[in-house]
Order: sequence, then structure tokens, then C-alpha cells
Amino acid sequence: MSSQDQAKRAVARAAVDSVAPWFGTDAAIGIGTGSTADLFIDELAAHRGSIAATVASSERSAARLRSHGIRVVDLNDVTDLPVYVDGADEIDGALAMIKGGGGALTREKIVAAVARTFVCICDASKLVTVLGGFPLPVEVIPMARAYVARELAAIGGQPRLREGFVTDNGNLILDVRGLQIRDPRGLEQQINQWPGVVTVGLFAARGADILLLGTEDGVREIRRA
Ligand code: A5P
Repeated sequence: MSSQDQAKRAVARAAVDSVAPWFGTDAAIGIGTGSTADLFIDELAAHRGSIAATVASSERSAARLRSHGIRVVDLNDVTDLPVYVDGADEIDGALAMIKGGGGALTREKIVAAVARTFVCICDASKLVTVLGGFPLPVEVIPMARAYVARELAAIGGQPRLREGFVTDNGNLILDVRGLQIRDPRGLEQQINQWPGVVTVGLFAARGADILLLGTEDGVREIRRA
């Protein structure tokens, strides 16, 4: 196993402590998407009898949860979501993130908006000074693809259609290279305003509250200032 995989496994394990206070209650737990979230789901399997329900940010995670016998409910049926655990493609020191490498950004953003606490789990390679090294995903309604791509190019990005990919919501993803994102909150707001954009994979207005970072020296916990 690579050291990156070991780090992912360690944070997935550590994240169980973040949700343990709700074991044995009727609270639902928010579950993210990606390879690190998959490991977290596998860790939850041992506690399936204590978990009343989960809300998943993708069909992929919902299927994995169900395969472990963990109940998945619709977000619309939940009035309170105490905690959401998910990975990130990049995260900065203020706990703003780029997400959507797995294409689940819109549902992730919706679940994150409802959650009271967002716990981000990732290995140390994801922590950066300036966001943008990882191509920024933007989910677009198909007829807006070319228009939004031109707008992204006008702000200095190099958008590329994610070939052969359709989101859980039936839309397309543009992956944008070449952006040095020094104002994540401002860029998130700007891109989200363009007609046809469903959501941009910048999580700055609602970033993480807690980062569990897998390092060679173990799991570091960083809280939003
Ligand atoms: C899914 O759409 C993404 O936002 C993931 O949370 C992100 O890509 C992290 O994935 P890994 O855990 O696989 O790196």
C-alpha cells in the first residue's frame, strides 16, 4: 500500500470519532464521495447497528453504504444534519477547497450547506497554499457548455470538457486548468452567477470546519480559525 493510501486509511479511521457522538441517536450522518470517503464508508460498516441513517452526496456512495447494510435516506427527509464527512481535491489553510474530481460537486455542496459541521478528510498532498493546481470542476447544463467555457477562458482558465462523463444530475463537467485562485470566495460567487452553471467546485463560502489531514507523522487536526 502506498503512503498516500495509508494516510487516506488513517484519516478515514480517525473520522469515525467525529461521527461517533451520533451513534445510537436518531441523527443522520452526511457522507461524501471519492476514494477517501469510500474508506470512511467501509469503516462505518462496523458500526452499522448504531447508525440510524445516512445522507449520501452521490449514487456511488449511496450504493456503497447500502452494500454494507447502512440505511440511506433522502436529504429532503432530514431536518438536521449534524455532521458531513467528505474528501477534497485541494484544501488551503483557510479550509477552502476544490472538490468535484469525482463529479459529485453539486450534491456535495448541497449536503455541505445543510450540515452543521463539515469534516474534511484527506492526505497531506491535498493541502496547498493557493488553490488551482488541481483543475477546477464546473458542472454545467449541457446547452450552456460552450458559453460557460468562453467565460472561463475570459478569466484566464483553460476549460476542457470531461469526456464521456454525465453527472448524477444529468449535466456536464468542465475541468478548468491554469487558475491561481487567490480569492476563492470571490471566484466562487462570480462563476456561480453565470447562467447555465449548476455549481462550481469551489467550497469557500461554505468551507470545511475541521480538517483531518493524513501525514507521515499521523493524523493532524486543523480547525477553521
Ligand atoms: C468528489 O466529487 C470529490 O469532490 C471528492 O471529494 C474529491 O475528489 C476527493 O476524492 P479522493 O478522496 O478520491 O481524493
